Amino acid sequence: MLDIETLGDHGPVIPVIVLQRPERAVPLAEALLAGGVKVLEVTLRTPGALRGIEAIARALPQAVVGAGTLRSVADARAARAAGCAFGVSPGYSREVAAACRGAGLPLLPGVSTASEVMAASADGLSFLKFFPAVPAGGVAMLNALHGPFADVLFCPTGGITAANAASFLALPNVRMVGGSWLTPADAVERGDWSLITRLAREATALREHGAQ
Ligand code: 3PG
Repeated sequence: MLDIETLGDHGPVIPVIVLQRPERAVPLAEALLAGGVKVLEVTLRTPGALRGIEAIARALPQAVVGAGTLRSVADARAARAAGCAFGVSPGYSREVAAACRGAGLPLLPGVSTASEVMAASADGLSFLKFFPAVPAGGVAMLNALHGPFADVLFCPTGGITAANAASFLALPNVRMVGGSWLTPADAVERGDWSLITRLAREATALREHGAQ
């Protein structure tokens, strides 16, 4: 089972993918891999998301594919059954965290307040998604959380772009960032894989500009 804290070893960015057509999953994942992005989050927001995850897990074993938007115990189980390497939830729920633990699915849970960080760390989780990062206070909030929670690392997601990602990655408590900017809906729709590979390559290079 993957150690969730090692996700950042693969690169600085997790693309957040909203898959409208499951048959696009493998070419999309190939385009991201070609740009050096190996960790992929496919959100469970569309009917074909689980099918897309299964296809990626089967066809591209070099990818580390996870399911995003886990909101319930049933979502956690479905993600595991689809072959996910990890799960991501938008907020913190003890039930979902326990279900992931029970299913052997490493979880990157979302938090946006000090109380939620306390709840997640009390349950043994110390790598957390900070969501929605920009509306919830951005860099200033992450700096403030670093004081009491110096042992917690974050993956800010929500409002991160190619323009502001480096300022988040430069923070001592940010291991990686997540966002949908690598997979613009119109580019996926028209199958513009070379654009997606270019965006992935630029995202991969962010580590050189940021910390760690
Ligand atoms: C999400 O859950 O939708 C992600 O946080 C992506 O947010 P973004 O579209 O602002 O990158």
